Amino acid sequence: MSELFEEQLQALRARALHRKLREIGTPQGAEVRIVGRQFVNFSSNDYLGLAADTLLREAAIAAIEEFGVGAGASRLISGTQSPHVVLETTLAKWKRTPAAICFSSGYAAAVGTLPALASKQDVVILDKLCHASLIDGARLSGATIRVFPHNHPGKLESHLEWARREHPEARVVIVTESVFSMDGDRAPLRELVELKKRFGASLLLDEAHAIGVVGRHGRGLAAELGLEGEIDLQMGTLSKSLGVSGGYICGSRNLIDWLINRARSFIFSTAPPPALAAAATAAIRFLATPEGEARRQTLWRRILQLRKMLPEGDAAFGKPSAAIIPWIIGHEQQALDLADALQQDGFFVPAIRYPTVAKGAARLRVTVSAAHSEAQIESLGEAIKRLRAAAPADR
Ligand SMILES: Cc1ncc(COP(=O)(O)O)c(C=O)c1O
Repeated sequence: MSELFEEQLQALRARALHRKLREIGTPQGAEVRIVGRQFVNFSSNDYLGLAADTLLREAAIAAIEEFGVGAGASRLISGTQSPHVVLETTLAKWKRTPAAICFSSGYAAAVGTLPALASKQDVVILDKLCHASLIDGARLSGATIRVFPHNHPGKLESHLEWARREHPEARVVIVTESVFSMDGDRAPLRELVELKKRFGASLLLDEAHAIGVVGRHGRGLAAELGLEGEIDLQMGTLSKSLGVSGGYICGSRNLIDWLINRARSFIFSTAPPPALAAAATAAIRFLATPEGEARRQTLWRRILQLRKMLPEGDAAFGKPSAAIIPWIIGHEQQALDLADALQQDGFFVPAIRYPTVAKGAARLRVTVSAAHSEAQIESLGEAIKRLRAAAPADR
């Protein structure tokens, strides 16, 4: 068995697709220490610098003092503790939906929700760049799956016509992200909402990389466009700009009640530690304060500062419109080499390769945080410009 793995691992190495874990000996933040050396950290989804914030630490510690560490059982058995209830009430209020339900991760939210929503006789239509959790959820549902090219409402419309013609009785669910995790661009949400209404479909919008970043008080893209009332399922994670861990679905009371009764990753998994729920509640409350909004504005100043430093009109940097700025390289080994070169300069920027992105679409994924200083952004921008100028033209 072990020899078989050795061969398979060797094959991954030969294609520059082998991945390894790096130990970080510090909290998340603008800087991290990896194997004894300090790096400026451009790898984290902790967009607001909340992961190690005193506010969240204190909320978690207070909840540990009161509720201990473990939740003891699944939420339906004995694990629904007051911090879980408070978190869901706070989430629903923040997202302006009647109700909310939390899961132990965003991944669990997706793989629990989609199979509760759709089954064999139904159709799930996803954007091609949807996160693996959404793809896995759609697969688990057993529904017929269709994929439309990234951010292409015209092709989505053809799939919807097909679904209504071939499966007139089916429930049709459209799935997309509001800010895409590896490209940092946004979904054309108004057009998607228009289509879902015209075809009587449901829309699941994963706001994982938008909340905390986009919209007043970081309420996400649907809120920014005034479309919250049109989205059937607003999904997200507590693990990125909210700085904690866990996933959520916000929507109607009946939808949430249905998920409590049908989402297997919710029913058959021990509840998240109550202290995490308390910390996430503190993060959401913080976003609604003037200090929270100021933190989000700082993030946007840093994002715009870096974007201005990148060569104008250079397609390698995509069309980022949030805190994720990709540098699309193509070849896996070249992406690794550039990540190494940035490490030499003191920056931790991960190379993202297949299967996280398509083969031959390897990239560096830069994530900006409100915790970065102007000087840190400036020096990364200079390093990228220098490396870009030295890179072959087709990168
Ligand atoms: C778009 C998207 N959805 C869902 C997830 C899963 O969230 P979590 O990390 O909380 O499991 C992620 C992050 O990994 C993501 O990027």
